[in-house]
Amino acid sequence: MSGKKIIIAIDGYSSCGKSTIAKQLAARLGYNYIDSGAMYRAITLFFLRNRINFENAEDVANALNDIEISFRYNEEAQASDIMLNDEDVSIPIRDMLVNENVSQVAAIKQVRAFAVAQQQAIGKGKGIVMDGRDIGSVVFPEAELKIFMTADPAVRVMRRFKEMYVTNPHITIDEVRHNLELRDYIDSTREESPLHKAKDAIVLDNSSMTREEQLDKVMHWIAERTEKAPATA
Ligand code: DC
Repeated sequence: MSGKKIIIAIDGYSSCGKSTIAKQLAARLGYNYIDSGAMYRAITLFFLRNRINFENAEDVANALNDIEISFRYNEEAQASDIMLNDEDVSIPIRDMLVNENVSQVAAIKQVRAFAVAQQQAIGKGKGIVMDGRDIGSVVFPEAELKIFMTADPAVRVMRRFKEMYVTNPHITIDEVRHNLELRDYIDSTREESPLHKAKDAIVLDNSSMTREEQLDKVMHWIAERTEKAPATA
């Protein structure tokens, strides 16, 4: 592939496989992968731990002043750990309590402004794959490649269930389904940057695709775009 670096924005509902393809792409291209959802999760974790009242704008603003988020590359996992004020919170941000509250926190205007500013700063140098809900529509409207991922709801529930079962063997499929449905609803109907497909995004439905088929397809789209992208120093 040519040395031209682009921004790849991947959006879609939870558990559509966004992070799987994003990690594969980053590894293949030597790009940085940023999981923007992890940032909203880390903020939620901080709010929960410090008993911040999400509904009080002043409390939210003060809390955000005390939060520093960064990513630290983990050689072994071949992915970045997310750091909340120098603590690696990659595992606790996946807790059910965070799942249950993150959509509410991500719907707060100040929280979004805080996260989006950091995401845009990270993307300045290009050579980045970022996944989330508003990456192609708000964070990087100029991204050279925008993908909107979808998958059959039943497939998504089973994917999320398998992922959560590893750390929580008491979890039930019904609990996972209920949480996904609720988050889909909040994420797509909130006032601030609701999840929607950017006009120029390509839809990728991976319900019945293997990871290899999916990667081949996306690599083909990237090849088309890197030909057109201006050379990066
Ligand atoms: O991708 P995820 O399930 O880890 O995301 C956690 C929550 O964060 C999800 O409910 C929606 C929100 N989110 C968002 O509003 N905007 C993003 N760019 C990424 C995630």
